[in-house]
Amino acid sequence: MKSRAKNQFEAWAGTYDHSLLNRFLFQPSYRMFLEELQAWRGREDGPFDLLDIGCGTGTFDAMLAASPLPARIVGLDYAEAMCRVASTKAHAAGAADRLRYVNADSQHLPFADASFDAVTCSNSFHHYPHQQQVVHEMRRVLRPDGRLMLIDGFRDNIIGWIAFDVIIGHVEKEVHHAPWSKIHEYFVQAGFREIRRRKFSFWMPALLTVGVA
Ligand SMILES: C[S@@+](CC[C@H](N)C(=O)[O-])C[C@H]1O[C@@H](n2cnc3c(N)ncnc32)[C@H](O)[C@@H]1O
Repeated sequence: MKSRAKNQFEAWAGTYDHSLLNRFLFQPSYRMFLEELQAWRGREDGPFDLLDIGCGTGTFDAMLAASPLPARIVGLDYAEAMCRVASTKAHAAGAADRLRYVNADSQHLPFADASFDAVTCSNSFHHYPHQQQVVHEMRRVLRPDGRLMLIDGFRDNIIGWIAFDVIIGHVEKEVHHAPWSKIHEYFVQAGFREIRRRKFSFWMPALLTVGVA
């Protein structure tokens, strides 16, 4: 499952930013993260450390770096080509001092315990064969009171089921869009508290789940 995802995204990296999915599914996720971060950190002055897991070409990271929020950002992706594209974009935008990319697997995060204030992960979680273990890893690298913000396709209504389980499941093969109740359970098992959810978008419904470490 992991090598299939890696090969798929190594090949897709060059054209990823121009795909239709990007416009309809991925872009709304970036806006949702920014809104959440603004509400949480907007009134604080000090910098904070954010890890974006399965960062792809780093579009969200670049948007965050360009915002007034003082985030120090690390993007992590299993596909080397995605990290390369993201890094090139960061340099071109003159944001390389606040953005750094690491090529690694979400299941084994190469960071010490309590290294980040926030972890984000959008549209990537369905590629992980061991989802509970990844949520434990996310919890491990968060500082006390840090936030995990996880977005993935919402497959618990008929539109989401057709989009994610039937169509995307058929196209991408070995993927698993977990129901919201399972994601909630992963968060509880990993020790998150104050867990809440926001569903957004219509044609490609997505679910944001937030937990406090
Ligand atoms: C659909 S893209 C989403 C990218 C970005 N977060 C966004 O919302 O546009 C999924 C990304 O997850 C990455 N990915 C898949 N499996 C991974 C794993 N085990 N560890 C880290 N990244 C992974 C892929 O390489 C790909 O870049």
